[in-house]
Amino acid sequence: MHRLFVAIRPPESIRDLMIDAMDDSADFRWRHDEQLHLTLRFVGEVERPVAEDLAAALGSIRAPIFELRVHGAGRFEQRNSGALWAGGEPRGPLAALAAKVERACQSVGLEPERRAFHPHITLARWKGRRGREVAQFLERTRGLASDPFVVDRFILFESRLSRHGAHYTEVANYALG
Ligand code: 2AM
Repeated sequence: MHRLFVAIRPPESIRDLMIDAMDDSADFRWRHDEQLHLTLRFVGEVERPVAEDLAAALGSIRAPIFELRVHGAGRFEQRNSGALWAGGEPRGPLAALAAKVERACQSVGLEPERRAFHPHITLARWKGRRGREVAQFLERTRGLASDPFVVDRFILFESRLSRHGAHYTEVANYALG
């Protein structure tokens, strides 16, 4: 089985900005540079033939090159865990591309994604209760913003989970424009 997702990989200057927004707090498991991406669609575990069909379907997507920037930070919180993230905007071209990726996923027989698309780049995760530390992070990163950068491709990634965290490898990449 292959655990797949489709994402945008920001350029190094933008990743550096996000790495600078991190700190050495041990309350959070900070993402490494290689792990920083904006997910368009989490696919999950699929058999190889489905992965191959999906790779082909993604290749027939036609969408324009667009500009994106990092703007703002936020959090997802469950009862006993959560994630810190940087936002991506504007939403329009991202959501349009995500919708095309969604159609490609459904065309190869995947179940529709029911959750709303929320463009974000996860910076860290935590377990337990970290209310004060999360508030401090959000306060400190309130002005987080990058220059616009050009998105000229999207990427099909495979995720391998280990005790040391998730390791992502590029399966294929698809040019826009
Ligand atoms: P996240 O950044 O918010 O964790 C690989 O796991 C990528 O797919 C991550 O960027 C992750 O988002 C995203 N993703 C979306 N839904 C997921 C799910 N149900 N399980 C794991 N990852 C998911």
